[in-house]
Amino acid sequence: MAEDFATPKHIAVIMDGNGRWAKSKGLPRTAGHKKGAEALQLFLTEAERRNIKYVTVFAFSSENWSRPEDEVSALMKLLKQNLKQNLSKAEKNNVKYHFIGDLSPLSKDIVKMIKELEEKTALKDGLCLNIALSYGGREEIVFAARKLAEKVKAGEINPEDISEEVFSQNLYTSGQPYPDLLIRTSGEERISNFLLWQLAYTELVFIDTLWPDFRAEDFDRALLEFQKRERRFGAIKG
Ligand code: IPE
Ligand code: IPE
Ligand code: MG
Repeated sequence: MAEDFATPKHIAVIMDGNGRWAKSKGLPRTAGHKKGAEALQLFLTEAERRNIKYVTVFAFSSENWSRPEDEVSALMKLLKQNLKQNLSKAEKNNVKYHFIGDLSPLSKDIVKMIKELEEKTALKDGLCLNIALSYGGREEIVFAARKLAEKVKAGEINPEDISEEVFSQNLYTSGQPYPDLLIRTSGEERISNFLLWQLAYTELVFIDTLWPDFRAEDFDRALLEFQKRERRFGAIKG
């Protein structure tokens, strides 16, 4: 069967605009994050319906730790609630969870739930969901460089063995295809330190919808835009 280039295998999402959504409704920013979590559930249902194999969502960046303490703690509380819900649903759904980022600043109980969710779903063969949490793209690259330097120091590999492939095997997304499509909501047109290595040849689609308002129609529009793109990877169309 011919390969289906029209459907992205891997979609990355910068779920942005929760704060502005709340502000536009005269609500606290936290209300936007809560709605944002619901929008993610909807997005995942739509992704499964469209047979997308990999989804990577930006939930909380390394830089988001610098937000006011009350917003960070509200986000952590929401995260805990969501982890709990997903743990109880894990048996019956078919999602394989993988968390990417530096988990060390997170509380012990959150890390425990994350590990539990990853272990519980490790053998699922449905959607692979990467959740970027306390994640920074530059940091990920630094961590990979450090891991490789340690392997060289231990005499396990030689510096000349470090190829693009070997490097990518030391990133959080090791073994996964790179994203074909990146969707960022809220009208901002930047990467904000997301998947810097992995996005090298990804098609970028920026949409004005604020994340809590993201619906199936927005998904369709993003896919339609993706299908119009001609991916060349530096070559000339044959
Ligand atoms: C994205 O929405 C969610 C997180 C970064 C946690 P924002 O909170 O950035 O919302 P805006 O950009 O301020 O509207
Ligand atoms: C990126 O959004 C991070 C997440 C969506 C989790 P931000 O709102 O933090 O990014 P900037 O500050 O607008 O670049
Ligand atoms: Mg934002």
